[in-house]
Amino acid sequence: MSAKIISGKDVAAEIRAELKEETAKLIADKGVTPGLVTILVGADPASMSYVTAKQRAAKELGFHSIQDSQPADISEEDLLALVEKYNNDPAIHGILVQLPLPKHIDETKVLFALDPDKDVDGFHPVNVGRLMIGDAKFLPCTPFGIQQLLIRSGTKTEGAEVVVVGRSNIVGKPIANILLQKADGANATVTVCHTRTKNMEEHTRRADILIVAAGFPKAITADMVKEGAVVIDVGVNRVGEKESVKTPGKMVAILEGDVDFDAVKEKASAITPVPGGVGPMTITMLMFNTLKSAKLAAGLTE
Ligand code: GUN
Repeated sequence: MSAKIISGKDVAAEIRAELKEETAKLIADKGVTPGLVTILVGADPASMSYVTAKQRAAKELGFHSIQDSQPADISEEDLLALVEKYNNDPAIHGILVQLPLPKHIDETKVLFALDPDKDVDGFHPVNVGRLMIGDAKFLPCTPFGIQQLLIRSGTKTEGAEVVVVGRSNIVGKPIANILLQKADGANATVTVCHTRTKNMEEHTRRADILIVAAGFPKAITADMVKEGAVVIDVGVNRVGEKESVKTPGKMVAILEGDVDFDAVKEKASAITPVPGGVGPMTITMLMFNTLKSAKLAAGLTE
């Protein structure tokens, strides 16, 4: 059996169409335009391309969007002052500080400095805590996107055995928390595996839903997957370069996920591709959170 492909590209397009309509309605009814600022420190090529994609998505939805690029040697003090400026700017409803930050800046300090009501990444400890107790305001975008992929692909999470591979603050921990909540699109039994897990395959083979954010290619091979499992691949690994089809002469990265896609797709019932799986969902849920923040600022409850 070859698995159904869960296209993040298609699901993201469906959600963005909904968001575009809601944005136009918010502007027409309340005169409030959702505002998003993306702060980029330095010029890491991967971070630059993520931020560019976030800006493009915001503009396409009709948001007020600002790209604030800062040099790699900006002081921590100046970056904190910049965050404070946007905390106090009423035209801005969402602030995103692209991670990772340069080594001389304390990332935690910067995330703590964000106004939790503008923290559309869901990384501020107040928002992390709210998620944990089942009263989330902004869900972190990648795990939120994974949950939407499961819901919109008709994957039942209630009572499902979910195994998460990876325990990062951005993906592993929050997706585990989201899926174990007593809520629709959740109610799962969740196991989290990590670099110190013994006999990882004994866990992954039990999974009805396997979510992989391990950080290296082919971390999950076909023998580690149960027949009929739903597999969500969060990995993005640059495994080489090729010439662009759109722009001949230009070299572009060859991307691969953390799952041995060709072999695992013969065993799974559904699987996300890389690229075109989880990636487009992350940006889409950032737009969702920014619109939500703007609606709350306009006095709407949802
Ligand atoms: N770096 C990698 N993923 C993310 C993300 O979701 N948000 C931010 N701010 N930085 C990231």
